[in-house]
Amino acid sequence: MGRPSKLAIWRQCQAHAADMKAKKLVDIMDVDITRTQALTLSLDGFQADFSRTHTTQEETLSLLLALAKEQEVATWRDRMFAGEKINNTEGRAVLHTALRSKETAPLLVDGKDVRPEIAATQSKMQRFSNEVRDGDWRGATGKTITDIVNIGIGGSDLGPRFVVGALRDLTTGPRVHFVANVDAADINGVLRTLNPETTLFVVVSKTFTTQETLLNANTARTWLVSHLGNQSVAKHFVAVSTNKEAVQSFGIQTDNMFTMWDWVGGRYSLWSAAGLSIALAIGWEGFKALLDGAASMDRHFQTAPLDQNIPVLFALLSLWYRSFWGTSAEAVLPYSERLRDLPRYLQQLNMESNGKSVTREGEAVDYNTGPIIFGECGSVGQHSFHQWLHQGRDIVPAEFIGIAQDDQNRPEHHAVLSAHMKAQIEALRAGRVDPDPARTNLGNKPTFVLTLPTLGPYPLGQLLALYEHKVFVQGVVWNLNSFDQFGVEHGKKLADKILKS
Ligand code: F6P
Repeated sequence: MGRPSKLAIWRQCQAHAADMKAKKLVDIMDVDITRTQALTLSLDGFQADFSRTHTTQEETLSLLLALAKEQEVATWRDRMFAGEKINNTEGRAVLHTALRSKETAPLLVDGKDVRPEIAATQSKMQRFSNEVRDGDWRGATGKTITDIVNIGIGGSDLGPRFVVGALRDLTTGPRVHFVANVDAADINGVLRTLNPETTLFVVVSKTFTTQETLLNANTARTWLVSHLGNQSVAKHFVAVSTNKEAVQSFGIQTDNMFTMWDWVGGRYSLWSAAGLSIALAIGWEGFKALLDGAASMDRHFQTAPLDQNIPVLFALLSLWYRSFWGTSAEAVLPYSERLRDLPRYLQQLNMESNGKSVTREGEAVDYNTGPIIFGECGSVGQHSFHQWLHQGRDIVPAEFIGIAQDDQNRPEHHAVLSAHMKAQIEALRAGRVDPDPARTNLGNKPTFVLTLPTLGPYPLGQLLALYEHKVFVQGVVWNLNSFDQFGVEHGKKLADKILKS
């Protein structure tokens, strides 16, 4: 397939970008109402408004869609869903979508149907989370569990941490804490607040070789054993991993282990048993609703025509700026305190997936790949870096994520929050002319606006699947393998060497 930059369509996009750079968003938006309709899409109440971008239907969209076709986005999508080994450098299938699928036809990886294994693990998760939440699972001294500590890092932390935080108002189970950093201040800070008799540790590590996680898990075990003795481990530790032997040698019995598979990438793993702490917090029905929301976005991604396909358009319009306007960053701005960890979660999803400089075939790329992702929740970010968005010279596409309805019983707060979000979007679009240059807002800055009807598990699942597919489509257009992360592996090995020296 090679580098897309050698294609005629790539050069056409470059030429078109040069034309569009001379145009202002306000002018582009004013001339054409059908354009706004074509760029505003919805799915079960979830709305995506891409109209505030430097895009015309006749040219920009058709060129980008032609690029997507040339790069065989639909074929690669179908190959992913079918379980083909599209993670070519590691020889692995990429099947996080199977974890939320309702399909029943066999889905084969190496000749084996993965669906029964998924169903069995989900039943085990359901049983276990019910037992803990109902107080049937007791600690070594017979007490019910009040606190869960999820020990993991990267995808074994960021996804579950984000979802548990986002759905915190729906938590009906034990309190869930997260420990990721190998800095002892992290685990000490959590352990200090806990009673070993009522604490359950969930050690999440796909490989069960990640040094930070294993050290934190060992420290937690030492703490537990010092209070309750060796035999207490069986009632206070469970593991989520692909590595049965390592889990056993850590001292966790197979009964207390939840299986993962090498066809689920770490940063795509919250849908698997890596999401156990989510089920413990909000219950199995809530976790299922999260999966169902993601499945609805999956179906849409698989079936909607490309020009009406939310993940495809989102990916292409964001790529439009990165590849053809030379932008370096994207801002993620959730107007919701509960979505505060979304930028961190998306940093891994996006930057670990598409922070690459060679094509699938190993050829050096001569174009920009994944951008810097940063962000903060509104309206907090307005009082820090938004100044740079408004008056800095860089163009930074900004993604606004809002919640349509107030669910906090404080309509006056919701009204102010929503007004601020709308104001920022409008200020970025239109700018403000003032006789004093220092008071002039440049405007002409593109924004993407995603609106969730409510902050529940179903729309949250849709949002996360949308971002997964956005990253996927961009990786396909750039001809990257979005599913390995060898850059990170090198650092891990170096740290090992340094420790041993
Ligand atoms: O940071 C690299 C990485 O491999 C991530 O992709 C992964 O999510 C994280 O480490 C944790 O890995 P594990 O779940 O195997 O402990």
